[in-house]
Amino acid sequence: MSDIKPTTTQTGTPVASDEFSLTVGTDGPTVLHDRYLVEKLASFNRERVPERNPHAKGGGAFGEFVVTEDVSKYTRAAVFQPGAKSETLIRFSSVAGEQGSPDTWRDVRGFSLRFYTTEGNLDIVGNNTPTFFIRDGIKFPDFIHSQKRLGDSGLRDADMQWDFWTLSPESAHQVTYLMGDRGLSKSWRHLNGYGSHTYQWINAEGERFWVKYHFISQQGVEHMSADEAEKIAGSDADFYRRDLFDAIAREEYPSWDVHVQIMPYEDAKTYRFNPFDLTKTWPKADYPRIKVGTFTLNRNPENFFAQIEQAAFSPGNQVPGTGISPDKMLMARVFSYADAHRYRIGTNFNELPVNQPHAAEVNNYMHEGNMRYHFNSAQHRTYTPNSYGAAGGPVADPLAGVEGSWESDGELVRSAYALRSEDDDFGQAGTLYRDVFSAESKATFHDVLNGQAHAITVPEIRERFFQYWTNVDAELGQILRDRFAA
Ligand code: HEM
Repeated sequence: MSDIKPTTTQTGTPVASDEFSLTVGTDGPTVLHDRYLVEKLASFNRERVPERNPHAKGGGAFGEFVVTEDVSKYTRAAVFQPGAKSETLIRFSSVAGEQGSPDTWRDVRGFSLRFYTTEGNLDIVGNNTPTFFIRDGIKFPDFIHSQKRLGDSGLRDADMQWDFWTLSPESAHQVTYLMGDRGLSKSWRHLNGYGSHTYQWINAEGERFWVKYHFISQQGVEHMSADEAEKIAGSDADFYRRDLFDAIAREEYPSWDVHVQIMPYEDAKTYRFNPFDLTKTWPKADYPRIKVGTFTLNRNPENFFAQIEQAAFSPGNQVPGTGISPDKMLMARVFSYADAHRYRIGTNFNELPVNQPHAAEVNNYMHEGNMRYHFNSAQHRTYTPNSYGAAGGPVADPLAGVEGSWESDGELVRSAYALRSEDDDFGQAGTLYRDVFSAESKATFHDVLNGQAHAITVPEIRERFFQYWTNVDAELGQILRDRFAA
């Protein structure tokens, strides 16, 4: 008993009871000056923060990334130099379901990876697919609305989903992934992650490259059947979250090899399709995968809310030697995530231990705001320029970031969105279906799509559904029509 600590108020004062409120006499009414009662109820009322709008359901862990190869000719980022080791955080998620939704509903899986580097946090916020549904950020809220719930009934709705997809032909490649095996992963340990977008790397000489990140699971890529997924959804909504936590608790640490595809800077101007369009992959025959290193997840969160729910990832978190590209979606995301965090978590979200850089310092002239906790080296002077030299605070480096910028390369910016000879919506989706899916995967794919055709209730949308798949592959379209009519 002597080890038991007394319950206290939030300011450390021992309290008399966690079972009985303070009352006027033994049987009298509760009094308002029972400070602990009021504090406990008020705290409870404020426990929830808004869930993430997309990607609300997830889980994660900490780990370590080790660079095993030498890619220094492509990037000067300290995190990717030979032998470098960095602490990492990962969060896996589903896209559409809410916080309590079953992990095994068919969906794309989020793959958010943070490297706590000596030059600041680097976040690659990707998915288990190398592509995406749309190519312009202005459509993102509409896309997510179509996957969430109807305004009147509050129900998810196949008509709404297929209405959006079939009116957005650029979605075909990603929908082929989603309706294929990758839509039902066996676990978060058994999926690959992709940065999906084209990012940039810059080497020590200032030479620039376009880069795509691939995180290849050492556990292998495995999926489950629709029947299995449905049963699990009914018996264990947190199946993926449990699987990851239990595996790490058993010291069965999952790991992923980090690879990149590298495109020389100038190639982007003339490549046969727009290399900044994330509805497409870069064929490995043109740009092979190059290994960088391996990361391993070896530490579970101690507090899910503090370390996973309040984790604030952003594709805008880049470091010297890495950067973004003229991908329109990526540019929209650079704005959107930090804005979401300010709303969801609060102004000073980057001060929380999980978000603050672990291996780099924060020095700037931003200060105060709700829940400010840390003060940085500019604590005395909160303005710049000032006349106090080093004692007056940090000094910005006018060259920081300039090396990576492509904005002033007119030829590149003009060519980034011009249609190229192979810019179409359905070509790569067809190749994925015909040449990458195994015979077994194709058969399952037909079953899944047949189920979807029956879930659509509006004939006009169903007709567009058949046309959409005919555009992907004429034979596939016919198979689906025949199956539906049978
Ligand atoms: C312009 C398009 C997009 C916008 C505006 C957007 C916006 C958002 C927002 C607001 C969140 C919630 C953030 C939070 O509250 O913490 C989110 C989460 C997420 N998004 Fe996006 N998104 C876009 C495209 C994408 C793409 C293309 C990918 C993958 C390649 C992606 C992957 C993710 C992931 C993995 C999360 C969960 C982050 C976490 O684990 O905390 N999103 N997105």
